Amino acid sequence: MTQFRSRIAGTGSFLPEKILTNADLEKIVETNDQWIVERTGIKSRHIAADGVNTSDLALEAAKRALEVAQLTPKDLDMILVATVSGDQPMPNTACILQHKLGAGQCMAVDISAACTGFVYGLTIADQFIRTGTYKNILVVGAEVLHRYINYKDRGTCILFGDGAGAAIITRAKEDEDSKVYSTHLHADGSISDLFVLPAGGSAIPFSARVLEEGLHYVQMKGREIFKHAVRTMSHACDEALTHNNMTPDQVSWVIPHQANLRIIEAVAKHFKIPMDKVVVEIEDTANTSAATVIIALDRAIRDGRIQRGQNLLLTAFGAGITSGSVLLRY
Ligand code: ACO
Repeated sequence: MTQFRSRIAGTGSFLPEKILTNADLEKIVETNDQWIVERTGIKSRHIAADGVNTSDLALEAAKRALEVAQLTPKDLDMILVATVSGDQPMPNTACILQHKLGAGQCMAVDISAACTGFVYGLTIADQFIRTGTYKNILVVGAEVLHRYINYKDRGTCILFGDGAGAAIITRAKEDEDSKVYSTHLHADGSISDLFVLPAGGSAIPFSARVLEEGLHYVQMKGREIFKHAVRTMSHACDEALTHNNMTPDQVSWVIPHQANLRIIEAVAKHFKIPMDKVVVEIEDTANTSAATVIIALDRAIRDGRIQRGQNLLLTAFGAGITSGSVLLRY
């Protein structure tokens, strides 16, 4: 069977206009700017206005990515939306996005892998292109997470924000140098209780009790997650380099999940990669879950940090606990 290679043809991202600063949070919960900055690196986060949904953010990011890739929505063979805060449980957000974009009747499906969602999506897109099944795939990471956050819980409400990023993954032409080298995905359901959104599924459907007990909000064991985040992302990156017989100095940029600056620094230290080779965008975006990696990638491409021909290592972890990496030549 002929094997094709996939490449990133274009990226885009979008953050909603409204900004929630640490100073704003100081007025809502017992916290302070210094604690949040020192423990997380976050100064502010973007919050979607009422009536603006995950598919709306995804739409703006997707349009920007399509423009760079010089493709139209009708060129798309598949739409993947990585999200844990889709517009509604059914239909999936990818179908809603397909309609809003004016794409054709291509395959459209959501990926639920929390913060690793974009890395999972990129992997799935890469596989469909390698087999020759599809040529042009839109992969989106999009979240309106703030609607699942309890703003009385200082342990979680400081961490998350809303946003979307999108990438067009296309079949690389034979003379094109840019390509996805390899992808590496993992999940460990035995520690899935570390980060949960208990209600809204078939286990705990909505009821008065859900509202009373706040079971519609995310619950997190932060310190435990921290340890697993460093371990799983470091492992996924080691795996990518070993698989491709590469050393860290051959990587121009690491683009990690933006959950906490200290987690990012610990992963960089593990690799002995200097922080000036790590894309960090957490300060004004906070943790946008499935969107962080692609937002960070897009911003670094647009401001010229990332150039064509460079080797990039993308890595993420998230609820599940899911984790993974993608090594590619941009
Ligand atoms: N403001 C002020 N004080 C606070 C706050 C706050 N917002 N939150 C907690 N504290 C207090 C705690 O109550 C505790 O006080 P105590 O010592 O009197 O009990 C103290 O600060 C230290 O708390 P820790 O939880 O030990 O703080 P830590 O350094 O671990 O930082 C944090 C907490 C930021 C949540 C960190 O553990 C973390 O980032 N973990 C990973 C979280 C994460 O990545 N979540 C998402 C993963 S999955 C996904 O991305 C979707």
